[in-house]
Amino acid sequence: MLRKMVREFAEQEVAPFVEKMEQGMFPRELLKKMGSLGLMGIPIPTEYDGSGMDFTSYIIAIHELSKVSAAIGVILSVHTSVGTNPILYFGTEEQKKAFVPKLARGEYLGAFCLTEASAGSDAEALKTKAYKEGTDYIINGSKLFITNGGEADVYIVFATIDEKLKTKGITAFIVTKDTPGLVIGKEEKKMGLNGSRTVQLTFDDMRVPETHRLGKEGEGFTIAMANLDVGRIGIAAQALGIAEAAYEQALQYAKNRHQFGKSIISNQGIAFKLADMLTRIEAAKLLVYRTAQLRTKGVKVGKEASMAKLFATKTAMDVSTEAVQIFGGYGYTKDYPVERYFRDAKVTEIYEGTNEIQRIVISKYL
Ligand code: CAA
Repeated sequence: MLRKMVREFAEQEVAPFVEKMEQGMFPRELLKKMGSLGLMGIPIPTEYDGSGMDFTSYIIAIHELSKVSAAIGVILSVHTSVGTNPILYFGTEEQKKAFVPKLARGEYLGAFCLTEASAGSDAEALKTKAYKEGTDYIINGSKLFITNGGEADVYIVFATIDEKLKTKGITAFIVTKDTPGLVIGKEEKKMGLNGSRTVQLTFDDMRVPETHRLGKEGEGFTIAMANLDVGRIGIAAQALGIAEAAYEQALQYAKNRHQFGKSIISNQGIAFKLADMLTRIEAAKLLVYRTAQLRTKGVKVGKEASMAKLFATKTAMDVSTEAVQIFGGYGYTKDYPVERYFRDAKVTEIYEGTNEIQRIVISKYL
């Protein structure tokens, strides 16, 4: 039922906005509608105004939305997995009550601020500093590539209280958008995902009350990694949606396009490409949904999430590349959506840990 509902919502409500989002429009209006349908808090318990559904349901929603708009997919994934969940899992009861219901209802949008100019894959090298002053922390530094940045109401910010302590100095904070000293910087012009915002942030003597520290001092790195484990399943589902959409377009085109007096799918050169694309999509689907079900059962899924992300995002890139190839010259134009899938797919192999980092995570379990 949820899949059908989200699919209809995506086709009827999201699809008309895709072109505007391609031109840079941020889909506030759609997010409001998603909030009223309960999509902004699918796996959040009802006691915090979420939909109280399981993790697999949340993955179904990202998968279906991403078939129509990968930008909506990432906005939802970042908002839920790494924008809301850290407060739900590591917050005090007061913090949960103050923030989670508004996030789950979609009144607030969440963002996750870990990456910095010189701390991307090497997340523990972050330089943003926090020091205590009375009952506040003063935070100085800057963040890069922040999805939902500028649009979000709540930012999970990672800073170090002592660089010498490495990961054990990293501390997480809940920062609201009106906090003095939070400066929204340059918006990145990206290859794809043009409907999602990606900005730089600066913290200029940003004062955050101690009551907004998330978890203990030094617990921030664990909070970041634990939530990225979950976030990566969301990105894998987003990639799966992109791959399926590209495949379906390519299949239709291959059946309808005639060259040399026959449809191009009647050439094995094209049919075999489609056979490989579908096989890989089905394999990715099994990995993504198996991981989602393990997570639903409460199993720790660090390795499985990385495997799902690694495989599904490579599938999205390869399938969308082949889709452009099947469309030929038309695939390189903006008259067909395959060039968008191709551009949107690329970043799934990069954010929430590059696919090289996913291999590091998987290797650690061997
Ligand atoms: N869950 C809980 N704790 C974890 C953990 C996990 N999955 N992984 C690591 N930790 C803890 C460890 O237990 C360890 O603590 P102890 O010292 O007490 O044992 C500590 O964190 C350090 O762990 P490691 O020594 O394993 O860390 P490492 O430095 O060897 O490896 C890394 C870390 C995997 C490379 C990590 O830096 C990483 O994931 N890098 C990629 C960063 C990333 O994914 N960024 C994404 C940005 S967000 C984003 O992209 C959102 C968006 O816009 C879409």
